[in-house]
Amino acid sequence: MTTFALNGQNITVDDDPATPLLWVIRDTLGLTGTKFGCGAAQCGACTLHVDNMPQRACVTPLSDVAGRSVTTIEGLSPDGLHPLQRAWIELEVAQCGYCQSGQIMSAAGLLTTTPRPTDAEIDTAMAGNLCRCATYVRIRAAIHRAADLV
Ligand code: FES
Ligand code: FES
Repeated sequence: MTTFALNGQNITVDDDPATPLLWVIRDTLGLTGTKFGCGAAQCGACTLHVDNMPQRACVTPLSDVAGRSVTTIEGLSPDGLHPLQRAWIELEVAQCGYCQSGQIMSAAGLLTTTPRPTDAEIDTAMAGNLCRCATYVRIRAAIHRAADLV
């Protein structure tokens, strides 16, 4: 049994402790906002937060989050109106949408440590999040916009 906080609520699961957190979140707990892309920490689609810092859920064993706090896109804000989510809507960032929850979770980590990031800081922080639809220019603009909304 492994206990951790998920989006502010303590939960206990009996999955194998070696199971990637991504599958626990999606399959056991039914939160499908966190996506599978590569399974090898190369694309960022599975990004969530562990103790408020972005982490790749596809390569994080369940055992690593025992006693810790995990936040998924579903828990980023109580009403879906985090400044990043508002900026994403306002600037119509998403295309197919598949990568976007991972993008937003990485961006949220950036704004926590760097409330007014430069273009270069954004590019560095977001470099591990790939977008097949090439929405990068809008992502950068939306992060600046969210910094204004905070
Ligand atoms: S699915 Fe985790 S980084 Fe690609
Ligand atoms: S919006 Fe399609 S992969 Fe990013």
